[in-house]
Amino acid sequence: MGMSSPLILSVSTVFALIGIVLVAIAFGTDNWSEYQVNRREIINAINANTTLKQQLQGGVASQPIFFSRTFGLFRECFPDTVPTGIGSYTSPLGTICINIQDYMLFGDTTAAETFNSDQTTRMHLMRTTVAFYIIGLAFLFFCLFTGILGCWRRSPGLILSTGILLLFAVLFLAASMAIWHGVDYLEREVLTVAPFYRSWQPILKQTTTLNYGWSYIISWVGIGFVLISSLLMLGAYRAMKEEEADEYDKKHAPYMMPNYYDKQAMVPYAYGTYSGYGAYPGAYYGQYAGSQYGGNGYYGYMTYGR
Ligand SMILES: *[C@@H]1O[C@H](CO)[C@@H](O)[C@H](O)[C@H]1NC(C)=O
Repeated sequence: MGMSSPLILSVSTVFALIGIVLVAIAFGTDNWSEYQVNRREIINAINANTTLKQQLQGGVASQPIFFSRTFGLFRECFPDTVPTGIGSYTSPLGTICINIQDYMLFGDTTAAETFNSDQTTRMHLMRTTVAFYIIGLAFLFFCLFTGILGCWRRSPGLILSTGILLLFAVLFLAASMAIWHGVDYLEREVLTVAPFYRSWQPILKQTTTLNYGWSYIISWVGIGFVLISSLLMLGAYRAMKEEEADEYDKKHAPYMMPNYYDKQAMVPYAYGTYSGYGAYPGAYYGQYAGSQYGGNGYYGYMTYGR
C-alpha cells in the first residue's frame, strides 16, 4: 500500500495553494520582461557626435524605448528614470507606469486600422495570452470549491474532478505562456515598425539588454506547482478508491469467510492461556458463552490483560 489519501490530499492542497498564489501574483505584476537601457552611454555618444545628436535628441527624453523599463501583461513601467509627457501614473505597486494600449479593446482603437499583418497578429496573440490566462485562473478558482467540497465529503468523484480541472488550468496557463512567447518573438525578431527592436538605431540596440523578469519566472513556477498538485490529486483519487475497496473487504469479509473472522475476533480472549480456544468457530463460542468455557475465556482475558 502507498501513502494514505488524507496525506496525499494535504500535500496536493498545499501545492495547489502555492501555485494559485504564484500564478495570480504573476498576472498582476509588471516584470514579465525587462529592457535595461544604459542611458549614460547613449547620452555620451550623442554629445560626441552631432549627427547622432540631431537624430536622437527629441526621442531620448521622451520615448519609452530610451528608458529602462519592465513589461507586465497590462503595464509598461519605468523603475529608474521616467520619460516626460507620456501620461504616466503610479501603479498600485508603486512604480511609474503607463497602460499597454496594444490590445486595442478600450479607448482610442483607431491605430489598429493602420496595423500591418504582423502587428495585427501580435494584437490577436496578446489578447489570446490574457484570455487563456484568465480561463486558467477561472479553472483554479473553480478547483477551490470542488477541492474543498471533495475533501470535506471525502468524495472520490469530486477529488477526481478537482484533479482534472487542475490539469485543464495547467493546459490553459501553459498555452498562455507559449503564446506570450509568440508575442515576445514578434516584438524582438519580426516587427520592423516602431517601437520594436528592429526599428531601433544601432546605438540603442548596443546599449539595451533584454531579460525575462521575475513575474514571468514565478508564473512558470506556479504552473509547475499546480501541475504537481493535479497529479497528486489524481493519486489521492486512486488511494481513496483502494482504501474504499479495503473497507468494503473488511465489512463484507465476515459473511464470506466466517471462520477467518471469528478467529481474529476471539484471539484476545484466549491468547497465551488456552491455546486452541481461539480456533473455536463463532457458533461454538455462542453455544458455550454462559458455560464453563465462557468463564474460562473471561479469566483467560484477564490473564492476558496483566
Ligand atoms: C525584474 O526581474 C529581473 C529578474 O528577476 C530582476 O533582475 C530585475 O531586477 C527586476 N526588475 C525590477 C524593476 O524589479
